[in-house]
Amino acid sequence: GKVVLLYSGGLDTSCILLWLLEQGYDVHAYVANLGQEEDFEAAREKATKIGAAGVHIEDLREDFLTNYIYPSIQCNAMYENLYLLGTSIARPCISKRAVEIAKREGCDFVSHGATGKGNDQVRFELSMYALAPHLKMIVPWRDPSFFERFQGRSDLLAYAADNGLPVVQTKAKPYSMDENMFHISYEAGVLEDPANAPSDDMFRLTTNPEDAPDTPEYIAVTFDQGIPVKVENIAEGHERTIDNQLEAFLYLNEVAGRHGVGRVDVVENRFVGMKSRGIYETPAGEVLRTAHIGLEGLTLDREVFKLRDMYSAKFAEYCYNGFWFSPEMDFVLKAVKESQKNVSGRVVVKLFKGRASIHTRESPVSLYDKNIVSMDVAGGYNPADAEGFIRINSLRLKAHAAREKSLGRT
Ligand code: ARG
Ligand code: SIN
Repeated sequence: GKVVLLYSGGLDTSCILLWLLEQGYDVHAYVANLGQEEDFEAAREKATKIGAAGVHIEDLREDFLTNYIYPSIQCNAMYENLYLLGTSIARPCISKRAVEIAKREGCDFVSHGATGKGNDQVRFELSMYALAPHLKMIVPWRDPSFFERFQGRSDLLAYAADNGLPVVQTKAKPYSMDENMFHISYEAGVLEDPANAPSDDMFRLTTNPEDAPDTPEYIAVTFDQGIPVKVENIAEGHERTIDNQLEAFLYLNEVAGRHGVGRVDVVENRFVGMKSRGIYETPAGEVLRTAHIGLEGLTLDREVFKLRDMYSAKFAEYCYNGFWFSPEMDFVLKAVKESQKNVSGRVVVKLFKGRASIHTRESPVSLYDKNIVSMDVAGGYNPADAEGFIRINSLRLKAHAAREKSLGRT
């Protein structure tokens, strides 16, 4: 049979590649470039050397930004109030291309290196079954003939060495990472105990807020219908305008990272039923979330705002649980897009010592009316009307109070 392997170039997936060859499969190694720091050519060489029938290095950055990061920004998406879903949104993006490669190369199988205890297996497999129901999954970390044979890193290293793989004897990191242009996640190993704080040298995208610059930096983000289309550094002497969306996003990461913005340490509930401790760095994501919320305040109708909030919670849940390609997510994505029609304008965000906060905001389609809010200008709102408004709203409360009293409860 022919199989597409989600390949990273690391020890685990290199051993899985070897093992699949040993089982008699033709293996197409697929490396997704989502903007992570990685030597893609080295991965290509390695997979070729091991014996892959094909190696596919796919630049998915634009797709990831446009079709996964932007919708999550439009939703202000967060899982369990803390996690910006950086790994969760990447899985369907990776899976979609895997399915395309499988179709193109005539592969009936897909294989991945996610463990049998995590969310990622669920996300990869649900995504691929949704897009190509005929595919069959080969999951070594759920297959006793694999995981009983390779019980630890030393078994994998020995297997690689026995098969003539150049094993780089780097010391294993004491935790596991998942990186893309939106975030880095750190979990497992020493981090498994929530009583252990991470060491400061773990972080790669952000400066420790305590060591961040002592002067703030101000960045303007311009949104068009909830999508960040322009980023400007407005600091005197550092003026810069970026309207290429990918560049703008990467620039935001850099500036926000410098100011230590976007770190979070959480204990979350995995879909498979266990709790897990994770630490995330999402610099640009944090800035965009802050800016977007600020602009929604100005531009969203109150009732649309409430609905969008409901859908945001659903978005986070479906996304985290692996149901990106589903009828419910299609529905939510359409609704959220509709809610963003007027979320356009410019927000200046202040970056300082680990925090992104709103500095100014303005919109050509703002609903905010100074004349109505202001106490000294009438502007169509007659305070005398409020008396009747309050009296009518109090009817129900008075009826309730009267009953409580008659029942002797007050
Ligand atoms: N806990 C996060 C999530 O479920 C991050 C998962 C990281 N995945 C990984 N293979 N290291 O989305
Ligand atoms: C894994 O178990 O493969 C990583 C963690 C997760 O998917 O939740």
